[in-house]
Amino acid sequence: MLEAFKSIALKKNSDSPLYSQLYNKLKEMLEAGILLPDMKLPSVRSMAAILGINQITVVTAFKQLENEGYVYKKPGSGTYAADVMMKTVERAEDGPLQDELYLQDDLAFINNGIIKLDQNTINFASATPTPDLFPVDNFKIVLNEVLERDKGNAFSYQDSHGYYPLRESVSMLFKNSDLEFSLDNIQIISGAQQGLDLISKALLRQGDHIITESPTYTGAIALFKSRGARILDVQMDTDGPDLDILELNLKQHRPRIIYTIPSFQNPTGGSYSMEKRLAVLELAQLYNCYIIEDDYVSDLDFEGRGYKPLKALDKYNRVIFIKSFSKIFMPGLRLGFMIVPSALTENLLTAKHITDISTSGLIQRAFDLYIRKGYWDKHFNFMYKIYKERYEKTTEALTQNLDSSFSFNRPGGGLNLWLGLPYGFPVNTLVKHAADHNIVFAPGRIFYSGSAPQTLNNIRLSFAAVYTGQIEAGIEKLCFLMNRLQNTDYTQRNFPIL
Ligand SMILES: Cc1ncc(COP(=O)(O)O)c(C=O)c1O
Repeated sequence: MLEAFKSIALKKNSDSPLYSQLYNKLKEMLEAGILLPDMKLPSVRSMAAILGINQITVVTAFKQLENEGYVYKKPGSGTYAADVMMKTVERAEDGPLQDELYLQDDLAFINNGIIKLDQNTINFASATPTPDLFPVDNFKIVLNEVLERDKGNAFSYQDSHGYYPLRESVSMLFKNSDLEFSLDNIQIISGAQQGLDLISKALLRQGDHIITESPTYTGAIALFKSRGARILDVQMDTDGPDLDILELNLKQHRPRIIYTIPSFQNPTGGSYSMEKRLAVLELAQLYNCYIIEDDYVSDLDFEGRGYKPLKALDKYNRVIFIKSFSKIFMPGLRLGFMIVPSALTENLLTAKHITDISTSGLIQRAFDLYIRKGYWDKHFNFMYKIYKERYEKTTEALTQNLDSSFSFNRPGGGLNLWLGLPYGFPVNTLVKHAADHNIVFAPGRIFYSGSAPQTLNNIRLSFAAVYTGQIEAGIEKLCFLMNRLQNTDYTQRNFPIL
């Protein structure tokens, strides 16, 4: 690494001051990914000695980089490279805050910051619908009716299990599906994320192992880690998890839970084959563990794949099924439900009670009426059409514009497309170039619980929050940037493997 600093050439008799030249050179190295996040820079004294310049010049250049967020200082330790990818995303978005829910989606990507999306941003990063699609008028009608009908009761504590009429109406929604369950097994939750939290609270102890797909949903990774669980990654093949690795982990570590997203997975969009669905259920029975089935979008099946939920095949009662409404409805309502095996209903009910006593009574009552008035079916059809159109436009544009050095599969549904990039492709540079053109997306590495495998290089494109009219131009530009980077010989320029 020292060699990289030694090669910095500063011109002593240039019009530009030395500190400014040094600042620009270091900035270039950060943006090109030559200096990786958290890499320590030489001390002021060493840098001055390496370049044969005054220490004040180095201090001034470091200070400017620090002020602009390119580096940070650790007191008593030195100066370190900041994560430039985060910086470029922030820079592209200096308009008003538009989509706070984006935060919830990509926890690691956002890194505790607040993303502000500009009106013109072409957003392939968020898998959450935009507020213009929310059925506000019909929701206003049911809210008013509930207030007239139930008066103060709408604001009292609810049964922790869930408002009984809502459990009924939710089960009506699934009467023509493959799922069969009794109302006693339904637990209303404040969103799927809470479902994951309740299960962790009820079943996991500090240091327990849990198996997840790799890559997987960032919110689940963050949650299991926050509970002190040790995550065992199982690689996803195109038809589901690698069964040998899954069994090896089950045998060696005896985890309590396998966390799965078997249909239109986040982030890969992939789905389990029927063989793998059955095999995973058998393995859970053999090694005595529970399976979480996170169903966040299985109903967005655009090509008639007809995947059967694991829960519908669950003859051993091993599956805790979680249904999120956030991708079809309004994520801010915080509503979802679980179908819980009878052996776990009491434990999960206790976990729910100690977490928030119950999901908002007013919202549960309003949603119940929304379903009973037939608004849900109408709204689902509306969203399905919009998402399907976006799916088709995005896949079509990719087919037309993507160079053969990149790959993607049509998942057949869901909200995400997973693009494969060649080994060593500089993804951070692509993030920056795209942000400069007002295009954002999620780099694949954020979906891994540890470091992403060195040989895999991916990005996730979501089409939930991108307006149909922007798709063609956005994909065309993104592919142009990808093709251009692919054709510059980055392997000769010592780009790190990102
Ligand atoms: C796979 C997956 N599960 C769960 C969630 C969280 O859903 P909810 O809003 O219902 O908590 C998300 C949100 O993006 C998700 O992608």
